[in-house]
Amino acid sequence: MTARRTLIAGNWKMNGLSADGVALASGLADKMKAAGAVDFDMLVCPPAGLISKVVDAVAGSGMHVGGQDCHMNEKGAHTGDTSAALLKDLGCSYAIVGHSERRTDHAETDAIVAAKAAAAQAQGLIAVICIGETEAQRDAGQTLDVNGSQIAGSVPEGSTAANTVIAYEPVWAIGTGRTPTSAEVQEVHAFIRGELAKKIGADEAAKTRILYGGSMNPKNAAELLALADVDGGLIGGASLKVDDFWTVAQSA
Ligand code: 13P
Repeated sequence: MTARRTLIAGNWKMNGLSADGVALASGLADKMKAAGAVDFDMLVCPPAGLISKVVDAVAGSGMHVGGQDCHMNEKGAHTGDTSAALLKDLGCSYAIVGHSERRTDHAETDAIVAAKAAAAQAQGLIAVICIGETEAQRDAGQTLDVNGSQIAGSVPEGSTAANTVIAYEPVWAIGTGRTPTSAEVQEVHAFIRGELAKKIGADEAAKTRILYGGSMNPKNAAELLALADVDGGLIGGASLKVDDFWTVAQSA
């Protein structure tokens, strides 16, 4: 069994202004400092405009900060976008790419997601590459096919366990309070690891962290995080309150 360090990641999405973002980040940083050595990594991904303040608020706590997206190009005429280089410069160590909300709202394809992941990795960031089936795809029995083709298309050349995290987020489980059964989650995660092995080799795939995301909360986190191929969580709603997110982290 390969040891994979659990990653508890909060995706704040488009929530929070300066005061609440800083309060949330400092509240978590205080918990981390009080806990001393922990056996998980904690990551928060605030809206882009809050990154600097959050980086300052978590200084010295061991927490990591990440972006929720980055552009595939290093710089240039891309109004409104954020480069991976700027994320790195602001103090980020991770970047989420290919979240289903970006795939839907911004028509991001697997090829775009792969290019963004490569851009993040080129800056020394860890790319958190999101995949997951819709409810219609699950109902049609296409869950494994969809996740397999997203791994094939969204994971760029040069990906390793050190620069890549996969987040399996069934679209129908996001923000709905519904989750697949534990057996279903484990089945998909094990399948994803197998598909990843075809792409980056069995050794790297065995070391790569695969997070579950979609209505993970203080009540179901312990059961989900105990599954053999679940190496952490990507948490939306429950990452917006210090106590909820900390309880999830404690379940790791
Ligand atoms: P919820 O935890 O709110 O379902 O969101 C999950 C998610 O999309 C994290 O990226």
